[in-house]
Amino acid sequence: MDGSPRFLVQSFQERYGDAAVSRIFRAPGRVNLIGEHTDYNLGFVMPMALDLACFTAVSPAAGDRLRVYSKNLDDSRDWAVSGIQTAKPDGDWGDYVMGVASELVKAGYEVPAANVLIWSSVPVGSGLSSSAAIEVSVAKALLGDRSMEPLELAKLCRRAENNFVGMPCGIMDQYISVFGREKAAVKIDCRSLECEIVPLPASAEFVAVNTMVKHELGSSAYRNRVAECAAAVATVQEKYPMVASLRDVSSRMLSEFQEIMEPVVMRRARHVVSEDERVEAFVAASGRGDLKLMGELLQASHRSLQHDYEVSCEELDFLVDTALGIPGVFGARMTGGGFGGCTVNMLRPEAAPHFRATLSEAYQKRFGLTPVMYPCRPSFGASEISAS
Ligand code: GLA
Repeated sequence: MDGSPRFLVQSFQERYGDAAVSRIFRAPGRVNLIGEHTDYNLGFVMPMALDLACFTAVSPAAGDRLRVYSKNLDDSRDWAVSGIQTAKPDGDWGDYVMGVASELVKAGYEVPAANVLIWSSVPVGSGLSSSAAIEVSVAKALLGDRSMEPLELAKLCRRAENNFVGMPCGIMDQYISVFGREKAAVKIDCRSLECEIVPLPASAEFVAVNTMVKHELGSSAYRNRVAECAAAVATVQEKYPMVASLRDVSSRMLSEFQEIMEPVVMRRARHVVSEDERVEAFVAASGRGDLKLMGELLQASHRSLQHDYEVSCEELDFLVDTALGIPGVFGARMTGGGFGGCTVNMLRPEAAPHFRATLSEAYQKRFGLTPVMYPCRPSFGASEISAS
């Protein structure tokens, strides 16, 4: 199975009979290199879009049904377009589609009756942003010829996740899925929503390694972290009313609250504040080609997520610790929300075969699971692809 137009057109025809695909849209997943749990604190992140992507094939339909088929799950949903405004979440994959449809309607875009097929190569639950890839490709498919500013598109898809799916995520995943670049990572300022294209040194490559686990805890912990960050801001505001988010807080300022801030809240804030500083340092080190420092920053990020933010898990820590002992590895850290999913590893290209074999063997021995590995090739953002 692949994302080739031929495969998509064929699958579409198998599902919908004579109706021909009229258009296909692609939106990529991402790997975040550094800047974790900083986006909803309006700080910095540095993801790259991947060549793993979600494809949405669409064709207009008579009547008033929006029919959506997931090729990966062999499962379908069917809604009346007139009922989109009052639709309620079902707690499954269909929510990403209906969330987008409902935000489109709220934004004044009519959602047409259509037959839709979704196929994605982004592994679900891997921390590589399979949900944003669905949201963005579906939004483009439902918009069709109607244009929307790319930034508006990213924001609308984030709202779908916040309001309909009920996940209080930041803007990173939807933003990079829209604005991804080939051959570069993208540093995003999650407050101004401006970005900087960051070409990466050719003498290092990035590999994502999937723990193949996703601990249930993830979404409730995410909500707790969002709340804990808000609590940290409230404490800081008692002395500095101008502070609107952790983005406005420096390490030095934070240290003034050592005595009065609740210890857990202090640790959460310390992660966010230091992580923003690491993103800046990582971009500068990348510009100078300082691979060693880049690797050290990745490691520091992981330790901070592990001990201060507490969103790592045994499997992620094992992959990181093992990777750091393999020759040619500059650094490794968990990527994405945490509690499973992937690590991202920075290594010398020539070290890759040994890295893969050693890590895979050690992980299998320890957890009885084969970690799937994805070379991270920076890819372009969401676009239409030819259906022929
Ligand atoms: C998830 C969210 C993102 C971001 C990361 C953590 O991927 O969707 O908005 O908060 O977690 O950096």
